Amino acid sequence: MALAPPRHFLFEITMVYIKKIVVVFVFFTLAFCALAQTQPYEGVPGWTSTKDRRMEWFKEARFGMFIHWGLYSAAEGYWKNKKYTQHYAEWIQNWAGVSSTEYAAVLKPKFTAAKFKPRYWAKLAKEAGMRYMVLTARHHEGFTLYNSKEPYAINNSITGGTNISPKGRDLYGETIAAFKDQGLKTGAYYSLLDWQHPDSYHTMGRSKSPGEVKPEHQVYKNYLYNQIRELSTNYGKMDVLWVDFSAKNNEGEAWGTKRILTDLIKWQPDVIINNRFWDGLENKNGDIGTPEKYIPSTGLPGMDWEVNHTINESYGYSAHDKNWKSYDKMMRLFLETVSKGGNFLLNIGPDREGSIPDTAVNILRQIGEWMKVNKEAIYGTTASPFQKMDWGFCTQKPGKLYLEVFDMPKDGQIKLPLSNRINSAYALKNRDAKLNVSNLDKAKAISLPNHFKGKLPMVIVLEITGKPEVSLQPGPTKNTNNIVLLANQAELRNEKGIKKGINDGGVNPSWIDINDYLTWDLKIQKPGKYKVLIQYRTKEPIEGTWGISLDKTNFEMRINEDTPGNKQKDVGVLTVSQNAIGMTSLTLEMKLISLKSDSMIELSNITLIPL
Ligand code: GLC
Repeated sequence: MALAPPRHFLFEITMVYIKKIVVVFVFFTLAFCALAQTQPYEGVPGWTSTKDRRMEWFKEARFGMFIHWGLYSAAEGYWKNKKYTQHYAEWIQNWAGVSSTEYAAVLKPKFTAAKFKPRYWAKLAKEAGMRYMVLTARHHEGFTLYNSKEPYAINNSITGGTNISPKGRDLYGETIAAFKDQGLKTGAYYSLLDWQHPDSYHTMGRSKSPGEVKPEHQVYKNYLYNQIRELSTNYGKMDVLWVDFSAKNNEGEAWGTKRILTDLIKWQPDVIINNRFWDGLENKNGDIGTPEKYIPSTGLPGMDWEVNHTINESYGYSAHDKNWKSYDKMMRLFLETVSKGGNFLLNIGPDREGSIPDTAVNILRQIGEWMKVNKEAIYGTTASPFQKMDWGFCTQKPGKLYLEVFDMPKDGQIKLPLSNRINSAYALKNRDAKLNVSNLDKAKAISLPNHFKGKLPMVIVLEITGKPEVSLQPGPTKNTNNIVLLANQAELRNEKGIKKGINDGGVNPSWIDINDYLTWDLKIQKPGKYKVLIQYRTKEPIEGTWGISLDKTNFEMRINEDTPGNKQKDVGVLTVSQNAIGMTSLTLEMKLISLKSDSMIELSNITLIPL
C-alpha cells in the first residue's frame, strides 16, 4: 500500500498549481484587455503624430454645411402615400420595410436632380459663413452620388446598380468642385452600413430570396475599401472622411479599418476622420467626436468634436417635416456649441430635384448676415472660460473675450466674474463706441449699448491683458438637459386604453386602480444613460413596488414610506439607444407591480438626468 504523502507536501503541490493557474489567468486577462482595447486609429502609424497639423483648419473653421442628398430625398418622408413621421427621413426604406429592389425601382426615376445648382449651394454656404462641407457620397441605402466603378455599383441583380447620377454626370464630383471653387474645404460622408449589398452586415430592406446565401463579410470589406479609395483618389483633396456608423458588435476591424486607415493617410495625408468607425458618438477614437442633434453639456473634454444638427428635424428631405427651428433657436445652438469648443455642422436636405427648401435658405442667409458682422467671434475661437451665463454665451481668443448676448439683462449691464483688467469694451457692430466698464468686488460690470439695432446675438468684445481669470463662478444654473415629466402630462391607462386625463396640479389621485398605469410620450435627443429621480407625495404609509420602462430598458422600484409628506427618490437608471433617437416619440411607462398598503403614492414628476 503506497504511503499517503504528508499533508504539507500536498499543500505545496496545490499552491504551485494555484500559482500557475493564477499566472496563466492574469496573462490571458491582460492579453485580452490589450486586444479588446482599441488603440487610437487601430494603432495605424501616421495618424496620431500628424493630428495637430491635420486639425488646424478644422479648429479655425468652426462652422460647416452637412448635405444629405440621396434616393431617400425622392421619397420625401412618404412611402406609398403613407406618411412616416420618424425624424430621419433618410431612413424611409427602413421605416417602411421596403426591399431594395422595389426602393430602387420607385425612387430612381424620381431622383432627377433637374434643378441642381452646385454653385448656388456652395455660394449659400459661403455666404452663411461656413468654411467646409460634408456631402453624403453614399448613405445607408447603399446608393452613390458619385460614379463608383465597383462591379456591384455599376450593375447588380438587386437594384440594377448603385450610381444614381443622371447619365454622364457625377453629382458628388460636381458638388465637391463647386465648393472648392468657393474656397471651402470638402468632405465625404460615407455610410458603413449598406442595406442592399448582399454581403453587408445589415440585411434589412434587402429582397429576401429563399435560400439566400450567407453574406461574405470579407467581400463587403473589400467593397468598402475600394469605394473609399475611389473617393480618396478621384476627386482631388478630400479634407474630411465622415463615416457612419458602428455598434458594439460592429466596429473597427469589422469594417477592415486597419487596412483602410493604413492607405487613407497615404492617399490623403491631411485628411480628418470622424470617430464613427467605432461605436458611440462620443468615443475617443479618430480625430473628432460627433454628437448628433445634441450639444454635450460640458463639451467633450480631451477631444475635438463637431455637433451635427438639423434646421428642421430630419437630415434627408421630408415634405412633411415642418418643424423648422427659428433663427433665434438656430443661433443659440450654434453659439452654445462654439462656446463649448465644438464645431457646428449644420445640415440641409435638398429635394429630389436638388432644390433646398426656402426656409432653410432663409435661415442660412440670416446666419450669414450675422456672420458678416460677427465672424470674428467664431473663427479660431476656443471655449468659454465661464460656466453658463443667463444672457448668452462667450467665446475667446488670446487677449479677447467675445460675449454673445441673446437676452438683454434688465439693468442693461452684464456682470462678469472676471478679475482681469479690461482695456477696452465695444460691440462688434460698432467698434468705435466704447462701452463703460466698472469694477465690482471681483467682477466687472459692462454697460451694454442702449439701442442696439443689429442682428442678435449682439457681440461685445472685451480686450483684456493675459489669460482670463474667472473670479467667481456664477451660481448654479438649472441643467436644461434634464427631462421633466409631470404627472399631469401623463396618460392614465389600463388594458382597455386611455382611461382619463390627469389634471390635478401635478399629482394624480385618480391613479388608484391597481391595473392602471401611466405613460408619457417624449422625445429624446441624446442616446445614453439617464438617472431617474421621482418626486411624490404620500398621505398614509405606503408599501409597494413599481416598474418603470423606456426604450426596452426597465427597472423596479420599491417604496416603503411610514411618514406622510413630499418625497424625492433616486430610483434607477434607464438607457436610451442610438436607434431610439430617430423615433418620433418614445414612451415612458410607470406601472404598479404590487401594493401592500391601502393607498397609492401621489406622483408629482419623474425627472431624467443625463449621466
Ligand atoms: C445617423 C443616421 C443618419 C444621419 C447621421 C447624421 O447615424 O443614421 O441618418 O446621417 O447619423 O449624424
